[in-house]
Amino acid sequence: MRHVRDLQALRDAVAEFRADGAAIALVPTMGALHAGHMALVEAARRPGTRVIASIFVNPKQFGPGEDLDRYPRREAADARLLAEHGCDLLWMPPVETMYPAGFATSIGVSGVSESFDGAARPGHFDGVATVVTKLFNQTGADVAYFGEKDFQQLAVIRRVVADLDMGIEIVGVPTQRDDDGLALSSRNIYLDAEQRARAVALPRALGVAARAIARGDDADAVLAEARATLIAAGFAVDYVDLADAGTLAPAPAAGRPRRLLAAARMGTTRLIDNIAIEANS
Ligand code: PAF
Repeated sequence: MRHVRDLQALRDAVAEFRADGAAIALVPTMGALHAGHMALVEAARRPGTRVIASIFVNPKQFGPGEDLDRYPRREAADARLLAEHGCDLLWMPPVETMYPAGFATSIGVSGVSESFDGAARPGHFDGVATVVTKLFNQTGADVAYFGEKDFQQLAVIRRVVADLDMGIEIVGVPTQRDDDGLALSSRNIYLDAEQRARAVALPRALGVAARAIARGDDADAVLAEARATLIAAGFAVDYVDLADAGTLAPAPAAGRPRRLLAAARMGTTRLIDNIAIEANS
C-alpha cells in the first residue's frame, strides 16, 4: 500500500492507476479505524478498481467544546489495518493542504442537513460536505463508500453530489456492530467498561421501537418509551425520532420509507445509531 501526504504525489498515483485502466474507489475516514471501516474497504475492493482510503481529522466538522483534540489518532495501526485489507493507497493530507491560508469556501446543504445532528451540531454538516467535496476532487474517485451508521451524513453527501453534478457514485454500507449490537464507532473507545455495558441499551431500544412502529403502534408513545429506556440506562438523550429515510425530514409522510434515528450521550461520549422501519424489523 502506498502512503501519500502530498497532493501532487496523490495526483501522480491516481494518474498511474488511471493509466492501468483502473477505476478509483474512495473510503473517506477520520482514522481510528475499526471493522466498520474495513467493511467499507472490503465493499470498495472490486476487480479493476484501486482503493484509496483517506485519513483526515477534519477540524471544520467539530464544534466548539467537541472532541477534536482528543479524537483518537493511530496512524501506524490504521495503515497496517488498511494494508492487510487490500487498500491500495492511504491519503493522509496535512491540515495545510486541506485548508491553506486564505481558504474561504464552505458548502452548506439546506433541508437534509438541518434536522437531528444538524440541529444538535451547528456547522457540522457544512464541514463534512466541504471536506468530502475536497476529497472527491483530490482523488477524482468514481465511487465512494460511507457507513450507514452516519445515516444523515450519507443523505447530506448524496444531496451534495446530486446538486453539484459531481458524477460520483455514493455507496452506503450497512452498520457494523459488536456482538451485543452496539454500532462500531471510533468514539466507543471513550467509554469505560461500565458505560460500554450500559451503551447496549441504545441499539436495543431502537430495535424494540422500530418493531413496535412497524407493527402499527402509536409512534409518539413508542418514541417516548425509547427515550425513557435510554434515560434509565444512563444516557442523556439528544433525540430519538422518526425521519423520512431519503430527505431526513422529521415526521415522514405516509407511504414514505422511514428511519428511526437517535443520538445520546453516555457521560461525555456522544453515540448515534439508526434503524430502518420495515415490516421485518
Ligand atoms: O464519517 C467520517 O469519518 C467523516 O465524517 C468523513 C466522512 C470522513 C468526513 O470527514
